[in-house]
Amino acid sequence: MSPDPVLLSYDLYGKGVPVIFLHGFPFNRHIWDDLIPDLAPHAHLILPDLRGFGQSPVSEDVLTMELLAEDVRYLMDHLGLDQAALVGHSMGGYVALAFAHLFPQRLTGLALVASHADPDSPARREARYQTVAQIRERGILPLLEDMPQRLTPNPGVQEKVRQFIQACSPQAAIQALLGMAERADANNWLREIHLPFLVVTGSADPLIDPARIRAMLESIPTATWVELPGIGHMPMLEAPAELARALISWMQQLQG
Ligand code: MLT
Repeated sequence: MSPDPVLLSYDLYGKGVPVIFLHGFPFNRHIWDDLIPDLAPHAHLILPDLRGFGQSPVSEDVLTMELLAEDVRYLMDHLGLDQAALVGHSMGGYVALAFAHLFPQRLTGLALVASHADPDSPARREARYQTVAQIRERGILPLLEDMPQRLTPNPGVQEKVRQFIQACSPQAAIQALLGMAERADANNWLREIHLPFLVVTGSADPLIDPARIRAMLESIPTATWVELPGIGHMPMLEAPAELARALISWMQQLQG
């Protein structure tokens, strides 16, 4: 039996079409803060902390992308929303894609920020298991040593990333790494989604292979791909105005 959904902690801003923002790993809902003034006039923004992160409850479960998507569905029920669009950053994008598979009738649009539909390669999966072993031994420290420089070339943003990592519970980090390692290939159902679809990537993001993004989008002629020059894995911190601009055009398609 799958675990019960939990009620996520969340913030609400603005009015209009509902758009839910899903943060990546190992962040929390405040990753989106710089975008709120630009976006709030255009949509009803719903910003949850995923299970185990920020102020949301921790559980004993592996955080599969399906379980995290089920929590998002439960939050929509709680807020009385039949439908919403999803914006997912990195792991949040994997959750948005799982949601699209499980609850397609409840989705009005999809935006992936520094994310993609591929499953882990065997090497990536193995690296996650090694990180899990290190976190079991040393707490969150291994993420602090490795992640900030890998995620962004911008020293100020690296410092912000460090602060987010320090706020992350080691237990949630382990559960999410295990959940990401076992996620499915979302390309299988992505091409069935006929909704406004935006992909935003940074040209300096070592975690995103543009050739794979091109392959993902080949069968989706309606998709828009915005590549931000010189930006790494954290466009919401590195280039919030440019990301907001791309999201506002996408939100206007949701209204149309
Ligand atoms: C994230 O930013 O959510 C993670 O780096 C995603 C991943 O490790 O695949």
